This record gives sequence, structure tokens and C-alpha cells, in this order.
Amino acid sequence: MIRIFKLKNIISIKDFEREDIEYILDEASKLENVAKSKEISEELKGKILGLMFFEPSTRTRMSFETAIKRLGGDGIGFENSGSSSVSKGESIADTAKMFEEYSDALVIRHELEGVSKFISDIVDVPVINAGDGAGQHPTQTLLDLYTIKKEIGEIDNLRIALIGDLKFGRTVHSLSNALGLFKNVKIYLVSPPELKMPQEVLHDINKTNVTWEEVDSIEKIIDDVDVLYVTRIQKERFADIDDYLKIKGAYIINKKMIEGKDLIVMHPLPRIDEIDTDVDNTKYNKYFTQAANAVPVRMAILKTLIKNNPK
Ligand code: CP
Repeated sequence: MIRIFKLKNIISIKDFEREDIEYILDEASKLENVAKSKEISEELKGKILGLMFFEPSTRTRMSFETAIKRLGGDGIGFENSGSSSVSKGESIADTAKMFEEYSDALVIRHELEGVSKFISDIVDVPVINAGDGAGQHPTQTLLDLYTIKKEIGEIDNLRIALIGDLKFGRTVHSLSNALGLFKNVKIYLVSPPELKMPQEVLHDINKTNVTWEEVDSIEKIIDDVDVLYVTRIQKERFADIDDYLKIKGAYIINKKMIEGKDLIVMHPLPRIDEIDTDVDNTKYNKYFTQAANAVPVRMAILKTLIKNNPK
């Protein structure tokens, strides 16, 4: 049976069915050679990607830019609102309308939840949410799932610990939602009490077959997981810096803790101090692999959305 990908925009992973995720992961797998090749593909020759980053980014912005260039297109955009006319008072809506004129698809990162959805309602080109506040980061989830499938072999039957800032960490929100589409998944939630997984995400998980458990220490679950998915405490989302300093460094993974265990360590990055650098040169380190996998996965997303929705 020929699969089709139905979504025009990628705003929330909650809009995906399992088949949509599998479609993108299969496409990404087919594009791995192109992602690593010195030859530039002509799949999206002449296409322009608009990159509207109101919030800082290294991996997401650069991997989207690499992805469009590897497919024969090009990227335009800004890295922060200060380098666009938003700093002069131009509205987000007018800014998006300009980008729509110049681009075949838009990638948006903003500190406020819902901005990507708002833009997708007022432009005709595909819109991709590259992270909206503490909301969602759906393309990160797709590359996380791609990494899990490549490293573990399957996503069904996964036992994963989500560690760190589960309140503000949008990647763990999206990932929890996505895992609800797979079979026999167990999620351990490990966080300081102040940074627990929000009730609305737990409510979503409860509607699926995923089982979950809150635990207060990594040691309690380390022998029962395939993946330690570590996240940074999101300093920029704290109103009071003292609240951040009290819980900074609450959970730190080091080589001694994981030696001899049958697991991998993932992290969406950036890392501050939550994974000791002594893990970097071990077989457990899959966080740099995740960042590399961002290119074929985002190539698959761009190819699919831009080809399915020509201007
Ligand atoms: N994982 C991630 O979103 O990284 P950046 O903030 O560097 O894009």
C-alpha cells in the first residue's frame, strides 16, 4: 500500500498518527546517504526555506539550513527578533506575511506557545514549529524517535526515563505524546518536585496504553531502562533566578553510574552540567548522534511538506 503524508503543517506531534511518524522516519532513512554525501541533491532545487528564529538555537536552525541546502534549496531568515524589523515594532503577522512571499515553507521558533499555530492560520505555505516556549518541539521528537529506532531497533516495548526539567522542557512533552502511539511503552519521570511533568501532558498519556511512574532517583530505575533521556533545567523560563539555583544540578549522569548497563543516553542539547563529559567518549553517548540525525530527519520533513504543497 502506498502511504501518503497528510499534514501540511508540523505544529504539534499530537496531530500525528503512527503512520505519519513512520512515513517521516522511512523517508529520513532513505535520505541518509544524501545527508552525508558531498553531492548536492536537486530534490528541492530553487526552493527557499524561511527561518524565523525569535529565540536562540544552534542545532535546530543549523540542521534545517543544512537540510534545505543538501536538497538543492537555500535558507533565509533571522536568528533573533533583534535582527529583524520586529525590533522596530513590526507585528509577527506582518513579518510572517513577508516571509511567505519569499519562501516555500517557514520554520518558526518563539518563546510563546501557540505562535507557530497562529502563523500557520494566516499563511498558505507549510509552517514548521521549531519550538514554542514550553509547548512542543515536534521535529526534535521525530529525530529522537529516529535515533531510538536506529539504536534500539524498535520504539514499541521501550522503557525510557525522562530526566530533569519535565515542566518547561518542550522536548519531553512532545516525546511523551508521540510514545503514546507505540505499543507497550513505559516512561519513568525523574525530576525535582518543582519541575514535574505538567498535568495536561499526563492527562494525554493517560489516554494511551503508555504506563508511567514518577520516581525521585535515577538509581531506582537505571537497571530497567533502554534510554536515559536527559534534559537541561531551563533557566530562561524561571521568573526568580534563586529558584533555578536551588535545583540546578539536581540530576547528573556520569560514566560510573552507567558502566556495564544496557542502555543509551540521549539529550536534545544544549547540555549544561547534567551529563558529565566523561560520558562523551563512551558507547552510551547518543546525544551527538541525535544532533547528526537531525539532518536526514529534517530533510525528510522539508522534502515531504514542500513537494506535497507547491506554491
Ligand atoms: N535541541 C534543540 O532544539 O537545540 P537548539 O536549541 O540548539 O536548537
